[in-house]
Amino acid sequence: MKLLVCGGAGFIGSTFVRVRLAEHGDEVTVLDKLTYAGRRENLHDVIEQIRFVHGAIEDPVAVADAVAGCQAIVNFAAETHVDRSISGPEAFIVTNMQGTHVLLEAARERGLRYVQVSTDEVYGSIEDGSFTEVSPLRPSSPYSATKTGADLLVASYFHTYGLETVICRGSNNYGPYQHPEKLIPLMILNAFAGDPLPVYGNGRNVRNWLYVEDFARGIGQVLVHGAHGEAYNCGGPDECENIEVVKRIVALTGADESLVEYVTDRPGHDRRYSLSSEKLRALGWEARVRFDEGLERTVRWYRDNAWWWEPIRTGVYRDYYERHYGRALKA
Ligand code: NAD
Ligand code: TYD
Repeated sequence: MKLLVCGGAGFIGSTFVRVRLAEHGDEVTVLDKLTYAGRRENLHDVIEQIRFVHGAIEDPVAVADAVAGCQAIVNFAAETHVDRSISGPEAFIVTNMQGTHVLLEAARERGLRYVQVSTDEVYGSIEDGSFTEVSPLRPSSPYSATKTGADLLVASYFHTYGLETVICRGSNNYGPYQHPEKLIPLMILNAFAGDPLPVYGNGRNVRNWLYVEDFARGIGQVLVHGAHGEAYNCGGPDECENIEVVKRIVALTGADESLVEYVTDRPGHDRRYSLSSEKLRALGWEARVRFDEGLERTVRWYRDNAWWWEPIRTGVYRDYYERHYGRALKA
C-alpha cells in the first residue's frame, strides 16, 4: 500500500513504519513536525526507504504535499504526554483536534482510507473488568479529552460523509525509542544513572502494558481488515501496578531499591486502565510479547543504545525534568 504516516518520527509511528516496510513492503511517506518527541534518529535505519516531509498536520499545505499519491492516512501525530497536557493544554487542542480535522478533510477530498491511532484513555478509569468499544467515553485529562474529541470527529466523518474511517485504541505502550518522559524509559534511565525513581501517589495505579510492535501490528490489521466506521481496542496481555513495574526495572538494572521515591500525585490521575481486545482478535490479531519478556528486551535496548538517549538527557528534556520534578538529573 502507499501510506501517509503522520507522526511517523515518534515512538509508535516509527515502529509502525519499520514493521510495514519489513513485513508488507509498503510505500511510506512520513509527515512529522519533529516536536521535542519526534526525531529523525527514530527512523535512522529506514530513512533511505521512505519519503520524509517535515511539517505539521494542522497545516493544510504541508498535508497536501505529503498526501500526494497515497491511498491511506494513518495518523499517529499527537501531543501525547498527560503531565504536559496538565501544565499546557493548548498544543494538545491544536495538534490532536485541529490537526485531525485537517487530515480528515484531506482524506475526504481524495477519497482515502483513514486510520486514527487512539488510546484507552478516552474511556477514563475502570476499577474492575475491561472496557469494550461500546463503553462510554469519559476522558479525564486534557490529553485524553483531545484524543476523544478527535475520535468523535473521525466518527462524524464516517456518518456524515461516508469516509472510510477506522479507529484503533491502544493501551500503554513500551519498548525501544520511547521518549524518557514516559514511565518505563524514565525509570530505566534514572536507574542507570542512580537518579531517584519518582513514583506518583501511592504507586498503586494500574496500566495495561502493550509491547510497541504488538500495537504496530494491531494497527496494521485494522488498516487492512477493519470495518469502516468501527473502533478496535488493542490492549496488552498484562496489567501491573506502577510500583511493581518500577521494582522490576530496579531488579533488571541492578539499581538500588532505595532510589524509589514517592512524589506528589498527578492531578486527576486515572487509577486503572484495562481494555478488552476481543474485537481485534476476531480480525486475527494477538499480542505476541508478554510484559516480562518485553521489559527485559526494553532494558537491554536502552543499555545498548546510549547514542539514542544521551542527547535527550542532556538537551531540553533536562529543563522539563527540573520544572516538572523540581530537581535536576545528574550531569
Ligand atoms: P510520541 O510523542 O512519541 O510521538 C508523536 C509524534 O507526533 C512525534 O514524532 C511528533 O513530532 C509528532 N507530532 C506532534 N505534533 C505534530 C503535529 N502537529 N504535526 C505533525 N507531527 C506532530 O507519541 P507516541 O507514544 O508514539 O504516540 C503515537 C500515537 O499513539 C498518539 O496518537 C498517541 O495518542 C497514541 N497512543 C499512544 C500510546 C502510548 O502508550 N504511547 C498508547 C495508545 C495510543
Ligand atoms: P505515563 O507513562 O505518563 O503514561 P499514562 O499517563 O499515559 O498512563 O505514566 C504511566 C503511569 O506511571 C501513570 O500511572 C503515571 C505514572 N508515573 C509515575 O508514577 N511517575 C512518573 O515519573 C511518570 C512519568 C509516570
